This record gives sequence, C-alpha cells and structure tokens, in this order.
Amino acid sequence: MQSQEEKLLWQERWHKGQTGWDQGAAHPGLPLLVLHAHREGGLPDRAAFFSAGCGRAHNEAQLARLGHTVRALDLSEEAIAEARKIYGDCQGLELTIGDLFQIETGEAKAYDAIFDRAMLCALPPDARAVYLDAMRDRLKEGGLFCAILFRFVETKSNPPYSINEAEALALFGNDFVLCYAGSLPATPVPAFIKEEWISVWRLRGAPQ
Ligand SMILES: C[S@@+](CC[C@H](N)C(=O)[O-])C[C@H]1O[C@@H](n2cnc3c(N)ncnc32)[C@H](O)[C@@H]1O
Repeated sequence: MQSQEEKLLWQERWHKGQTGWDQGAAHPGLPLLVLHAHREGGLPDRAAFFSAGCGRAHNEAQLARLGHTVRALDLSEEAIAEARKIYGDCQGLELTIGDLFQIETGEAKAYDAIFDRAMLCALPPDARAVYLDAMRDRLKEGGLFCAILFRFVETKSNPPYSINEAEALALFGNDFVLCYAGSLPATPVPAFIKEEWISVWRLRGAPQ
C-alpha cells in the first residue's frame, strides 16, 4: 500500500515544482495506444475513461479531444489547479482532486477503460497489486486497462520504478487478458526514460 509519507512526498514535489516526468504535451505514443485499444481491445468510441495520477492531464485532455469522456484524478491540489489552467475548458474532461485508493460512490464498475502513464510506475512495487485492484473495481466487465509503461529507467533514486512484460504479466495475472503489447521508441523527454512499452489489458468476464 502507498504510505501516507509517500502521498505527502507527491504533494511536496508539486509544491517545489519537481515535476520532471511531465512531457509538456500528450505522450507521442498515445495515438498508437488508442489504436490498439480499439483494434485488439474493442474500445468503444466515446468510451468512459478513468485516469489516476493525471498530473497536468496532457494525455487525458487528448483522450477527451478524441471524443472520450475522462475523469482524471490527482491527489495534489496544485496538479489539478495547473491542469485546470491549461485544460479547464476541454470538453469531456473532468479534473478532480482525490486519492485513487478511495473509490467514490458511483465509481464502481463505471468505466470502459483505465488510462495509465507514469502512475503504476510511480508506485513502489509492493503497492502495485492494491493499485490494480482499485482500477479493476472501477472497470465494467470487459473493460480495458491501457498503459504506457517504463521498461527501463536510469535514475539515482525511485520513483520511478520500471516494469517489464514478465513482471506485468505476473501482476495482471488471471484477472486480465493481454490484448496487445508493443515497444515504443524512447521519448527524448524526460531523459531518464530509456525504454517504454504500451499495453492493453482486458478485464475477464465479458463478451468479446
Ligand atoms: C509521475 S506523476 C505522473 C503524472 C502524469 N500521469 C503524467 O504522465 O505526466 C504521478 C502522479 O500521481 C499522483 N499521485 C500519487 N499518488 C496518488 C494517489 N494515491 N492518488 C492520486 N494521485 C496520486 C502524483 O501527485 C503525481 O501527479
């Protein structure tokens, strides 16, 4: 589980402007991820997305511009204030302050898809299963988990924590089916990310 101390550290990073993970725009691999989510995952048009740890919400705004509705959450008030400054008028994007581990009324089984960029990889490995449970509980049956993950990072300290395909398969386990996985060319920003990959996972228990 993510400790209270770790949560405070995120607030502090935002307060000090230490947001080196931020790419200043949607991730260049997002269109490819969305393509595979539609093609191999059966993502509906106008899907309802949930995204935890959205930061400035560049990716979530892009998803909303593609016609999806996105509830984007961050525990940092400063993150959400900054996201609202940039994307406050983006149709279909709801920017919310909150803790991803607390599922609000109406959120259970409410979403067609989860989007993740640098949230799973921001959590210590021993918090991953609880995070995934919190996301699974928000998904409708057959819902998708769409992720941009770090396969290899070069940093002096953590977070971030990388996750490779084998580790992800063990984590997603029997609850999810892997619909698609593929490598991305490393993005130049931020420089600490050396290898990235995208993946689309479907929650079991729904018609194909
Ligand atoms: C590495 S940043 C990634 C931000 C964004 N997804 C991006 O790609 O730019 C991780 C974000 O998760 C947020 N976060 C950490 N723990 C959280 C929690 N328990 N609930 C919601 N947000 C959390 C942090 O405040 C931070 O903005």
